Amino acid sequence: MAQINPSILSADFARLAEEAEAVRGADWLHVDVMDNHFVPNLTLGVPIVESLARATSTPLDCHLMIEQPDRWAPQYVEAGAGSVTFHVEAAAAPVRLAREIRAKGARASMALKPATPIEPYEDLLPELDMLLIMTVEPGFGGQAFLDIMLPKIRRTRQLIDKHGLDLWLQVDGGVAPATIEACAEAGADVFVAGSAVYGAADPAEAIRALRAQAETATAAAGWGCRH
Ligand code: DX5
Ligand code: ZN
Repeated sequence: MAQINPSILSADFARLAEEAEAVRGADWLHVDVMDNHFVPNLTLGVPIVESLARATSTPLDCHLMIEQPDRWAPQYVEAGAGSVTFHVEAAAAPVRLAREIRAKGARASMALKPATPIEPYEDLLPELDMLLIMTVEPGFGGQAFLDIMLPKIRRTRQLIDKHGLDLWLQVDGGVAPATIEACAEAGADVFVAGSAVYGAADPAEAIRALRAQAETATAAAGWGCRH
């Protein structure tokens, strides 16, 4: 089943618990952590993730856009995140870090910026529970989807299937009604949507509609149901 993860980057940060409640049908809540160094924007850190984890029953999908994830990522697991994504461009030892995240009890995920190729990381894929392909340059919500990323999504799906891995393939950035079908058709199965969900009049309905679009496109592409 296609998973839709609304990004609270597009929510009202003064009302995070209510905003989490507004998307209760979501599979995961996507939490963008930015440190003003890895990306030119600053959002939130461990204490807010801790509070949010207590405030909602929706599991947290923490996307760390920070330097030194080797040092900080384990703290997000301890704060209550169910999935922690680090950027490979920032990680000193991605294998060790993925193993540490898993050992602490969360799903381990690795993200690639648009200019980072997947091919050098083929051998690392079994260490991961999810691979995130950025479809915008990380840092801000509401940017235009980069359709030049579609071939990378497709090649990644082929690698996952070639190795028979149970690895989720997430896309993040500009995912909306106009772009989600192309992502699903290329092989993505976890979809982050910020403005497309929180900018909608009815966020819960926007999630349902996006999921339906993704599932139809996935079925048509013949990737089948993986989870
Ligand atoms: C961007 C963030 C995204 C962002 C997506 O750096 O990683 O998660 O919230 O927002 P939209 O869906 O509006 O592009
Ligand atoms: Zn994100």
